[in-house]
Amino acid sequence: MQDAFTRFLERGQAATRSTSPAEAVAAELSNLIASGWQAPDPRYRTLQPGLPYGSYLLHLSPEGDFCVVQDVFAPGQLTGIHHHRTWGAVGTLEGCERNSRYAVAPDMRDAPRFLDSHLLSAGDVTTVGDGELDFHEVECASEVPSISLHVYGADIGRLERIMWDPDRQAYRSFTSGYSNQAVGLPLP
Ligand SMILES: [Fe+2]
Repeated sequence: MQDAFTRFLERGQAATRSTSPAEAVAAELSNLIASGWQAPDPRYRTLQPGLPYGSYLLHLSPEGDFCVVQDVFAPGQLTGIHHHRTWGAVGTLEGCERNSRYAVAPDMRDAPRFLDSHLLSAGDVTTVGDGELDFHEVECASEVPSISLHVYGADIGRLERIMWDPDRQAYRSFTSGYSNQAVGLPLP
């Protein structure tokens, strides 16, 4: 089973050198999910009570330019509206997620404006843009937890990013971090 993941890392890393890395990596991610791959330790499936979602770093290249994360959402949990500052490919392993895109004006004065949303079921793969104004929100839309794999061109958990804060009605910086150590898993 881990051979499939090793193969994905090799091919995925090579795909980052493509002219459209998000799409090229998404194709490799689709193959990995179709293989039936699962994370080797059940702790990677742990929900994070009190946190928006669990986010486990599975792999980070030495250069920090190829990062694989497994996210786990309880039913109804959601990320908040955020951007990425890097290209990304996202695939659903289990359950169902609603991926909603938002328009944000360059001056970032007004609230994000809803654009569209898509349901992603097991096996579905999509991409996220690297633009400063490419905002989206992910929500678990199934009655069981959703588990998804996320691949980025940067160390996403340590990258300072921006999200919309609905309580303050303003954008704010955030760093998403990783959940590995909270459940006793090493950070690779
Ligand atoms: Fe995201």
